[in-house]
Amino acid sequence: MVKKYSVKELLNKGKYFIDKKVLVEGWIRSFRYSIFITLNDGSTIKNLQIILSNKLDKIIIKKITIGSSIRVIGIIKKSIGTKQYIELQSLDIIIYESVDPKILQKSILQPKKHSFEKLREQAHLRFRTNIFSCVMRIRHHIAICIHRYFHENGFFYLHTPIITTSNCEGTGKMFQITTMDLKNKSINYAEDFFKCKTYLSVSGQLEAETASLGLGKVYTFGPVFRAENSNTSRHLSEFWMIEPEIAFYHLEENINLAENFLKFIIKYIIDNSIEDLIFLNQCLEKWNKKKKNYLLEKLELILKFPFKKISYTEAIKILDQEEKKKNIKFLHSIIWGMDLQSEHEQYLVDKYFKIPVIIFDYPCSIKAFYMRMNNDGKTVRAMDILFPEIGEIIGGSQREERYDILLQRMKDTKTDQNILWWYLDTRRFGSVPHSGFGLGFDRLVQFITGMNNIRDVIPFPRTPKNAEF
Ligand code: 4AD
Ligand code: MG
Repeated sequence: MVKKYSVKELLNKGKYFIDKKVLVEGWIRSFRYSIFITLNDGSTIKNLQIILSNKLDKIIIKKITIGSSIRVIGIIKKSIGTKQYIELQSLDIIIYESVDPKILQKSILQPKKHSFEKLREQAHLRFRTNIFSCVMRIRHHIAICIHRYFHENGFFYLHTPIITTSNCEGTGKMFQITTMDLKNKSINYAEDFFKCKTYLSVSGQLEAETASLGLGKVYTFGPVFRAENSNTSRHLSEFWMIEPEIAFYHLEENINLAENFLKFIIKYIIDNSIEDLIFLNQCLEKWNKKKKNYLLEKLELILKFPFKKISYTEAIKILDQEEKKKNIKFLHSIIWGMDLQSEHEQYLVDKYFKIPVIIFDYPCSIKAFYMRMNNDGKTVRAMDILFPEIGEIIGGSQREERYDILLQRMKDTKTDQNILWWYLDTRRFGSVPHSGFGLGFDRLVQFITGMNNIRDVIPFPRTPKNAEF
């Protein structure tokens, strides 16, 4: 039996394999002069060059097309060409399936530049493209290092439910789930599967809070669902969120954790995904006219300085002054109490500070019921982290741990206490100061890979009017 290797293993340890017999499988990326094949198996951005034996049957050669899946047994040789260090001289080749040139023509496997929209229309084939496979490999490494960070820092991974009866964030629409026949107009939810109205969860935070109030440090990492009709390059209807929750943490500790966490991830990706980052950078140079090394410099800038930390009130003051100085004219005018729009966030991050910005102590009127009230009675211990290009990447807060104040906030925000009785209850059994945040995983992947649209960093994007793939 000849041992099977991935293209990555062969290319990474090229020297070791010289003159050895190996088996490799993958898909054909190019076929030239009836003898050179470049093969990719998804393990790396790089391809293996295969030299076909000149004894190969003409019938087989005819079947070799771009996109075909093959198995090759051959001997690794030092390459004569300068492009690659090693190549595979084939002894035996099996074609699993070849691609009809007529259908290849219309597919995104045809080696030429295709728009990202076209790639999305053939989402089942996207994984075979250089660009998308790069993004997917990086996405994987980000997920792995997130688990690693928390594990190494004493957090427990908590699985929170996807089906819920409550709306943690209060604002915005949720997807309802039911097994009932909705044609029947008089719906009685007591007859529904769960005997009540249920939804897909927008966040695992409330459950994570209850767990942290026993386990100390926990985090969630799962899909969340939002039914807002937002058709932007930063919104998905189904996205992945990471939500750490820590007992005995105040807002400052929460902010420091978030900054340290983001820097850890970015450093990890620079250290572990450099080949894919370099490839993405080359694409961005070509397509978006970005300068050389743009992506790496952008990532290194995140590591270089402490993030800028300002209160909401200070942020409003800066935006107001900048407008008065006629440095900028915003579409939405600046008033204390307003929710910051992306034009304001972008101005602060991309133009004013030019580094990530953490804004804290927002007005209570624009934030969720669970955030801890400050002594001024007007602001809450919230914090948002704003990143260059994409804006809000993290939203978090210190939580309201005082029973009476939380109850009042629930009343003020019309949050149903009957549904959330168990959440309130935690404030009667040894309540403690605690904090946490939510990191939008897909937005982070978008930032790190430099993709313009969030739909191009998730395998199967769900957005309004789009759930086919
Ligand atoms: O700010 P959000 O809504 O915060 C929460 O859900 C809190 N419960 C988190 C917590 O404190 N545990 O969402 C958190 C992050 C945002 O900062 C953003 O990065 C991302 O989730 N996000 C989205 N990403 C993609 N598509 C959407 N529609 C998103 N909405 C929020
Ligand atoms: Mg938010």
